[in-house]
Formats: sequence, C-alpha cells, structure tokens
Amino acid sequence: MRHLLSAADLDAAETTGILDLAEEMALVQGRPVKKLPALRGRTVVNLFFEDSTRTRSSFELAGKWLSADTINISAKGSSVSKGESLRDTVLTVASMGVDALVIRHMASGAPLQAARWFAELGLGVHVVNAGDGTHEHPTQALLDAFTLRRHFRASQPDAGRDDHQPFAGRRIAVVGDITHSRVARSNVELLTTLGAGVVLVAPPTLLPAGVDTWPVEVRDDLDRVLGEVDAVMMLRVQRERMSGGYFPTPREYTVGYGLTRARLGLLRPGTAICHPGPMNRGLEISADAADSAGSLILDQVAAGVSVRMSVLYLLLGGADESGAVR
Ligand code: CP
Repeated sequence: MRHLLSAADLDAAETTGILDLAEEMALVQGRPVKKLPALRGRTVVNLFFEDSTRTRSSFELAGKWLSADTINISAKGSSVSKGESLRDTVLTVASMGVDALVIRHMASGAPLQAARWFAELGLGVHVVNAGDGTHEHPTQALLDAFTLRRHFRASQPDAGRDDHQPFAGRRIAVVGDITHSRVARSNVELLTTLGAGVVLVAPPTLLPAGVDTWPVEVRDDLDRVLGEVDAVMMLRVQRERMSGGYFPTPREYTVGYGLTRARLGLLRPGTAICHPGPMNRGLEISADAADSAGSLILDQVAAGVSVRMSVLYLLLGGADESGAVR
C-alpha cells in the first residue's frame, strides 16, 4: 500500500489484513498491549486544515505508540493563514524528510492531489486521507468495520454463520445527512466490499445526486428499517456545510430521522448503534440512544487508535523479513 486515499482502494483481503493487524494492536484497558518499536526513526505529520478531535489525536497516538516521531500542523497557526497554497504547504512539509503525511482538508480530492504532486517530484512520502470535503474518510470506515466485526463475532454468533465472513448477510443502516457525509461514502465502499448490505435512510433533500447508482438500498421509512437491520449508523447533520439553511428543520429532522428514545424500542435485540462523532445530541441521536447498552460509539473511538496503528505500520513498513510485527 503506497497511500490510503479512498476505501475503494482496498479489496476484501486488504481490508481484512488491516483489521486483523489492528486486532493485534488493539487496546487493553485503554492502552495498546505494549509500545512497539516498529516505526522508530520514521516521521508522521498530521496536517489538518479542518478541526478534529478523534482523527487527529488517534493518528498522533498511533504514531507515538509505534515509536514514530509525530507532529501536528493545523491551518490555524500555520502559514496557511497567510495565504500559502495547498501545494506550497504540502511540498514544504514533505521537503523536511517526512515519511507520511496525514491530511484533512475541506476540499474533496486534496489528499489525492498531494499524492500526485509527490509522485511528479519523486518524493516518497505516503499520504493518508483523514477526511476530504464530502468525499471520503477511509480510516473512519476501517474503524467502523473493526468495531462492527468485533460486535458481530461476539454478540451475534448465529449458528452456521462463517466467522471468516462476519459481514455476510448483515444489513447496516446509514441514517441522515448522506449528501455531506464522507463517512457515508467510505462506509458504503468498505461495507459492501466486506459483503454487507447497506441501507441508506435520509430525507430526499439530504441524498446526493446519483445515489441511485450506488450499491445500496435507499429508504425513507426509518421506523420500519430499524427493525430490519443488524446495525444502525447515525450521521452528524453537518450544518456548517449547509450555507443556504437546511430542510427539514431541526425539529422535523428529529421527528423523521432522529434515533429518539421511542425509536430504541423498534430495534431488534443486539442491534449495534454507531455514530462517527462528533454528535449533535438531541438532533440526530438522543442521549438515551448514545448512552444505551447497545451503543458502540466509544468502542469506535478506541478502535480508531489500533486501526490507525495498523494503517501506519502497513504504509511505513514495520515488518521484518518474515512478516512479523517488530
Ligand atoms: N469522526 C471524526 O472524523 O471525528 P473528528 O472530526 O473529531 O476527527
């Protein structure tokens, strides 16, 4: 793997390899099994042009727990605020001897563009997409898959189900603001690659053009869908990307598409509740749902560190000649 720009870059075997390695690096009581020396001498830069809590801190922890040197650069406080271009910014950072650049940017395609500039100039810097505009957020989809795989294996061990294909026959509802969601796009790619069925549930105004060509089922009857799925992934309503105001109104949205306390009773026992965060509590998800026994939201956060350790390890090459993790 040279870069990780899109969930579409990963086939089922590659995805399973990342998830399996993440299991080896998974947290025990909030810490990795041990700090690994695998990336000693390597440098990872987190270059964030948009705000983040989970993604930036987990990439930083992932790098540190693999013994890489990690630094964070935000648009605020960098020369981006003086008008420096994306090209000048990424080439400046890359020229400092960096091994990997983890990029979050408000423009769809910015990490791909950076990877193209590095290729043109013969720079061997690896690029990881940490969320670009409304396009993709591949490591979010990987950590979601990691969390759901654990849940399916542990809590729904149906007789006859193949443990090596934990997503086969599963149906996962992705609910809400699909139009603005890079999380939805990456999850549609990755979950279908893994063999799950994806059901999108959204008001028509928050469905993107062309969704009819996606490999998904599109519904708007949330109350019925909730009783038919193995997991429900609630999306954040991205009000900051809705410059012209938004419809439905917040009240209408919650009534039609929010995971309210009343709707918890429509879920089948064992249905997983996910949300990538940050949550708009009381809008797309109620506190009763977010803090319920079925909620995997904090498991998703924990998975973020081990999955990002796995991705950095595989990109930067921490295996010895036998393939063993050092
Ligand atoms: N899920 C996610 O990307 O969260 P942050 O914006 O906090 O990184």
